Amino acid sequence: MNISKITIIGGGNLGTSIAKGILAIDHFNKQQLTVCEKRLARAKQLVEMGFQVVENKISEAIEDAEIIIVSVKPQHFRSVLEELKPLLKPEQLLVSTVTGVTLNEMAAVLKEHPMIRIMPNTAIEIKESLTCLCFQSTTREQELVVTTLFNALGKTIVLHEDQLDAVTVLGACGIAFALRFIRAATQGGIEIGFSAEISQFIASQIVKGAAQLLLENGTHPEAEIDKVTTPQGVTISGLNEMEHQGFSSSVIKGLLTSFNKLSNGDK
Ligand SMILES: NC(=O)c1ccc[n+]([C@@H]2O[C@H](COP(=O)([O-])OP(=O)(O)OC[C@H]3O[C@@H](n4cnc5c(N)ncnc54)[C@H](OP(=O)(O)O)[C@@H]3O)[C@@H](O)[C@H]2O)c1
Repeated sequence: MNISKITIIGGGNLGTSIAKGILAIDHFNKQQLTVCEKRLARAKQLVEMGFQVVENKISEAIEDAEIIIVSVKPQHFRSVLEELKPLLKPEQLLVSTVTGVTLNEMAAVLKEHPMIRIMPNTAIEIKESLTCLCFQSTTREQELVVTTLFNALGKTIVLHEDQLDAVTVLGACGIAFALRFIRAATQGGIEIGFSAEISQFIASQIVKGAAQLLLENGTHPEAEIDKVTTPQGVTISGLNEMEHQGFSSSVIKGLLTSFNKLSNGDK
């Protein structure tokens, strides 16, 4: 990868995950990444984690940065944009992770500056994110640079911005939904005889394996389910009981609840 320097503004949950992922990319070294963090205690933690940190000085943090990733809460985004406005060089690409703030709202401040809205998830720290990208005022070359970066941190899809709320729910909140399944399976595993540690290991590995089956074979989930559900067998009995208790329905309803909340302007 040919990116000389990346700056992340906001070293919170997601900013730190992105920073960890970037440093795990082959041939990318610590001097090529700067994290700018406002909160003193958090900045100290980031230094202890081994990151090059600039405390709350955006002007200093973005010097020579080819890509600037802003990862602050929506309520802080406007002031960060206003601060960036007189500092940004035309060639510096601005990437926002901020939920619910549109490219047009960003353009109201930054005009024609090249901007990218992304929606990654926290698995970015182990380079397994699903990152959705939306571009505005960018050249094909700039789009390629950003796509290459996020492909090194997992998988990417380019979508129209009006699908970003949906991808936020399925692709970012979805991490929490999948983790809750793992937690529930772990609890069940403990009840049938495993230690918490072994149970969680088994539950995590089966989710990883199930996902890999679909991704690598390109099959439908039901085709893979059919392979393990013997007539009158134990798997179908358990699976049907889960459905009687509303398993699929509660997952779908949960997704819709999150989506409706986001569409109503909640972040
Ligand atoms: N977490 C996720 O999985 C996820 C996924 C996709 C998108 N997002 C979006 O990504 C954004 C960041 O989320 P998060 O969970 O990482 O938030 P977070 O933990 O609150 O992190 C944001 C950090 O940025 C700091 N900050 C605020 N203004 C700053 C400034 N001017 N300069 C430098 N640092 C500044 C904050 O400090 P203070 O606390 O002192 O303000 C905080 O430490 C949000 O807009 C969120 O909607 C999150």
